[in-house]
Order: sequence, then structure tokens, then C-alpha cells
Amino acid sequence: MRIVLLGAPGSGKGTQATLLKQRLAVPHISTGEILRAAVAAGTPLGLQAKAVMASGALVSDEIVLGMLEERFRTDDVQRGFILDGYPRNLAQARALDALLGRLQLPVQRAVQLDVAEATLLGRLAGRAQAEGRADDNPEAVAHRLHVYTDQTAPVIDFYQRRGTLVRVPGEGSVEEILERIVAAL
Ligand code: AP5
Repeated sequence: MRIVLLGAPGSGKGTQATLLKQRLAVPHISTGEILRAAVAAGTPLGLQAKAVMASGALVSDEIVLGMLEERFRTDDVQRGFILDGYPRNLAQARALDALLGRLQLPVQRAVQLDVAEATLLGRLAGRAQAEGRADDNPEAVAHRLHVYTDQTAPVIDFYQRRGTLVRVPGEGSVEEILERIVAAL
């Protein structure tokens, strides 16, 4: 199955993708994870992305698409995939559509996790304390939420028009939400 997971920062995309990956036996592709690994490894890509990510802004479309094209060249995606963190704006949604069209691997379901802002803020504050992720401080979180509303939310309509969108309430226990997603697929 070929799935795109959509939702605001802290909505649980990464958490659910990790579980869905096991359930569906397909790879989990997280652009945020790929970028954080590049930052940690100090690669040229990581050096370019580091400050942008820490501020809560989006890394350039060109860099992220290049990264994704490389990932989609590997054989395991033929089985399907769970894409988490991409697309983040309409230009990325169109680029993904074109890329997956060329590869004959179109998105079958776009799953939007709906979570109230107060819950998002609580989860990200909890992770800031537990893990100290560079972009979980209050200023970066505020910017990430603004970027989400401004640039990423329109992507929901894009998939709605394609007829592939399903919306899932993203509050409750991790297991409950997983079962809702599986039922919606
Ligand atoms: P990215 O890594 O994609 O971060 P994000 O979208 O801000 O999402 P998060 O990882 O914060 O949240 P999530 O929805 O995955 O939730 P999670 O499961 O972690 O992107 C980071 C940055 O990279 C971007 O800001 C940008 O700079 C760059 N980037 C990435 N992709 C890009 C792109 N395509 N283009 C340009 N730039 C890009 O959960 C959050 C917390 O909540 C965790 O602590 C978790 O344990 C907890 N939690 C989850 N579910 C529950 C639950 N049901 N109950 C209680 N707690 C829960």
C-alpha cells in the first residue's frame, strides 16, 4: 500500500508510521528523519538544512525533492511505502505526483491526522523536556504551526480532490489511533 501521512507538527505522524510500517510491511520514509540524520552526520545537505530546521521553517523544495528522488530509486518502495513529512506545500504535492506518476507508484491513500492545537502544544512541550529536539522550543514550535496552517494545510484539499483523502481523529491512545487508521485504509 502507498500512503502519505499528513498532519500538524506533533500530530503523531512519526509515531503512527513506525507502527504502520510493521503492520503493513512497507518502508517508512520520513523527510524529517532523513534531514535530522544529515544534520547529525554533518553532510553538506545537513549543514545547509540545520539552521532552517532549528527555526521551524521549511528546507528548500529543491533539496527535499532531490533527497526523496534518491530514496525512491531503491527497490523496497515497490512493495509500498508510508511517506511522513512530505508533501509540505502544494509545489511539493505536485512534484510528488509527477515523480510517482513516472515511477508508476501513485499515492493510494492520504491520511490526515486531526489533532487540536492544545494537544499538539502539550505533546511537543513534553518531547522538548524528554528529548530536547532542536525545533521543539516554543519559538520554533510557533513557527512550525504557522508554516503548517499557511503552507501545508492546503495539501489536504489537494488529496481531497484526488479522492484519496481519509481523515482520522488523532487524539486518544496510540493503539486506538493506529486501529482507526488501519480501518480507514
Ligand atoms: P518533521 O520531522 O516532519 O516534523 P513535524 O512535521 O514538525 O512533525 P513532528 O515530528 O514534530 O511530529 P509528528 O506528527 O511526527 O508526531 P510524533 O509522532 O513525532 O520535520 C521537521 C523539520 O524538517 C521541518 O520543520 C522542516 O524544517 C524539515 N522538513 C521535513 N520535511 C520537509 C519537507 N517535506 N520540506 C521541507 N522541509 C522539511 O509525535 C510527537 C510527540 O507526541 C512525541 O513525543 C510522541 O511520543 C507524542 N505522541 C504521539 N502520539 C501520541 C498520542 N496518541 N498520545 C500521546 N502522545 C503522543
